[in-house]
Amino acid sequence: MNDEMLTRCRLDAEELVSGRLMPGDEAPELLSLRPSRLSEYIGQRELVESLLIAIEAAKGRGEPLEHLLFHGPPGLGKTTLAHIIANEMGSQLTVTSGPALEKGGDLLGLLTHLEEGDVLFVDEIHRTPRAVEELLYPAMEDFAVDFVFDKGIHARSHRFRLKRFTLVGATTRVGMLSAPLRDRFGMMRSLDFYGIDDLVRITRRSAALLEMSIDADGARCLAERSRGTPRIVNRLLKRVRDYAQVRGDGRVDCTVVEAALALEGVDALGLTRLDRRYLKTIIEFYDGGPVGIEAIAATLQEDVDTLVDVVEPYLLANGMVIRTSAGRRAGNEAFRHLGLKAQGKLF
Ligand code: ADE
Repeated sequence: MNDEMLTRCRLDAEELVSGRLMPGDEAPELLSLRPSRLSEYIGQRELVESLLIAIEAAKGRGEPLEHLLFHGPPGLGKTTLAHIIANEMGSQLTVTSGPALEKGGDLLGLLTHLEEGDVLFVDEIHRTPRAVEELLYPAMEDFAVDFVFDKGIHARSHRFRLKRFTLVGATTRVGMLSAPLRDRFGMMRSLDFYGIDDLVRITRRSAALLEMSIDADGARCLAERSRGTPRIVNRLLKRVRDYAQVRGDGRVDCTVVEAALALEGVDALGLTRLDRRYLKTIIEFYDGGPVGIEAIAATLQEDVDTLVDVVEPYLLANGMVIRTSAGRRAGNEAFRHLGLKAQGKLF
């Protein structure tokens, strides 16, 4: 295998468990695994309960649902929930993202085509350019947009009324949202990593939809390697299905899951090569930390945003990394998992 192929394989394995949306996730087969109603949605129980109440109340009053903001790591269901909300409200969904809204006109075009009660989903809303974001304020608050004609002393403004719609925003970085935007959402909810039992149920549900045969141990092994993330469950299932078909008799148990995922560089806790390189950099290169994220990124030759949005959240949630004002430290769990000694440091 040449260097280029090796690099490609490394990237494939890292993408497999990255949580971040990849083109393959939009394939019809994976899209069909998304639940389309709240009653099918597994996990995030409190959030689902709040949504059920808000949706029923809005429908009872004959009003659109209030604007909603979902925040949390990638792959936990923010986009899926936007689809579900539109379905439950019996309305149309328009999907866009902060970076796609380059100019005010991009947003105005979408807003003026919304019908009463429609849902506008803005992914990565924290990356909306400021000038576009300012157009969102009156749109969200008064269901109106102000067009400005001419410039200077000839400037005139015309208020254009919009149909009452629901904005569903999603972000991995709630701290980067400006206060005026944050304040215009009626509900803000975080999505948390899923527990093992919910991931097992999601695995079994997806396996049934993919007509795969997976036993209870196999489902648990796969759930444990999915970094608390349903999107990763579904991706790993496809890899495991291929492996079982080519190297076995199509049936999946824990041995098949372990063998298939070892090939992808995914370990018993679902950590990838990039996760392990990240942890080893802190431990071996920076003596366990504390070390700044920029220094870690430079050593790994990775993007800071990738580390912050994709790699760190799961490691932080599991005590493998600890964030302090002085930088990142490796947690006891990281030493234990990598089979390394904590070098007499007190943690
Ligand atoms: N597929 C992906 N996420 C899911 C969830 N939360 N519930 C059921 N199926 C899913």
